[in-house]
Amino acid sequence: MRIAMIGSGYVGLVSGACFADFGHDVICVDKDPAKIEALQAGRIPIFEPGLDALVGDNVRQGRLSFTTELAPAVAGADAVFIAVGTPSRRGDGFADLSFVYAAAREIAGAITGYTVVVTKSTVPVGTGDEVEHIIRETAPEAEVAVVSNPEFLREGAAIDDFKRPDRIVIGTEDARAAAVMNEVYRPLYLNAAPILVTGRRTAELTKYAANAFLATKITFINEIADLCEQVGANVQEVARGIGLDNRIGKKFLHAGPGYGGSCFPKDTLALVKTAQDHGAPIRIVETVVAVNDQRKRAMARKVIAACGGSVRGKTVALLGLTFKPNTDDMRDAPSLSIVAGLRDAGAIVRAYDPEGMEQARPLLEGITYAEDAYHCAEGADALVIVTEWNAFRALDFARLRAAMTEAVLVDLRNVYSRNTVEKHGFRYSSIGIA
Ligand code: UDX
Repeated sequence: MRIAMIGSGYVGLVSGACFADFGHDVICVDKDPAKIEALQAGRIPIFEPGLDALVGDNVRQGRLSFTTELAPAVAGADAVFIAVGTPSRRGDGFADLSFVYAAAREIAGAITGYTVVVTKSTVPVGTGDEVEHIIRETAPEAEVAVVSNPEFLREGAAIDDFKRPDRIVIGTEDARAAAVMNEVYRPLYLNAAPILVTGRRTAELTKYAANAFLATKITFINEIADLCEQVGANVQEVARGIGLDNRIGKKFLHAGPGYGGSCFPKDTLALVKTAQDHGAPIRIVETVVAVNDQRKRAMARKVIAACGGSVRGKTVALLGLTFKPNTDDMRDAPSLSIVAGLRDAGAIVRAYDPEGMEQARPLLEGITYAEDAYHCAEGADALVIVTEWNAFRALDFARLRAAMTEAVLVDLRNVYSRNTVEKHGFRYSSIGIA
């Protein structure tokens, strides 16, 4: 199969590299010449475990290449994937589709022969209809089918998620297009991944429903955690107790500082808007969005309370800034609200993150950065675990205790147990454990 991937960001690059690894002939396109130049020189612009090697291997095998020229990449392709960004629109929170539609217009002008155009970007219900309309309007003669094929990749585990998916969702009513998509994903039959072929609108909505459900699950356990703290219960044991029921399932029941990242905040908001526009509001998701926003801000208040009610003039050391481990992504990270809340309350904030400091710098004003966890804790009045990087799972508490002015540990990811930490003379607070 010849595949053109339009957009070489996170989704495009991971998907393109994985398709090439399946043996397909893949060309990744991006408008940003600096990005393409870097990729051509073997430099990967994002941090994703295993991606460097995967891209390198497939480029060497001649199956993967990069270009800024859309037209030659699209001409002769069997499948053209649209994997451009769909950021939240300023003001109303609706997904901004201008990049998707611009890509559709350009693709239309370049198609030769039967081509399946696939929206991989997360797009609101009905976007596939509009993409098809744009293509048919721009190139009435083009032989084309427009398919929805949402991605379910987690950052930090994207390659594994792509190669061993729980399911593949393909939205098309066109049998010929379904056959092309089957061929594209054929290598995954070996992994027995279920392929769900359904209507295009159903596929589009499935993506939003999946993310909104997961965000709801997290928000549910976060609120149960708050209640645990008040009634003397332990949220981790509650999560285990309910998660062992197969109807509930144990994943995504880890209480924390609120979800962040490139998908959940944006997709929940977009679903809320779509539902309102269609007169079928999803109030449970509206509440999830509001609760999660408030929670991120509440985390700064939790740290302040752990410091005895005031952080004015105190030094607070943050371990982890990215929205989750194994990524350098700072989008909607809880750390953004935590830093703002602490600074507003007069704290001096110092931070360390294994991969995220470069991305954090332009977003977080007035904080200083350390080169490791111990350096970060030097002279601090409180240490806060914000992101559960592996590097923070076996901290030397005696060393930290000796370095710090006050021994306060706020563990927003429940990495440690109270006993372990208090043994070293720390005052310990975590999430949902009374
Ligand atoms: C998510 C979806 O999992 C993925 O299928 C979709 O395609 C894109 O969005 P991602 O944002 O990369 O992936 O990360 P994920 O691991 O799902 O975590 C999202 C957020 O939820 C993080 O902030 C994480 O810390 C938080 N989270 C997750 C919890 O607080 N508790 C949990 O139990 C799980």
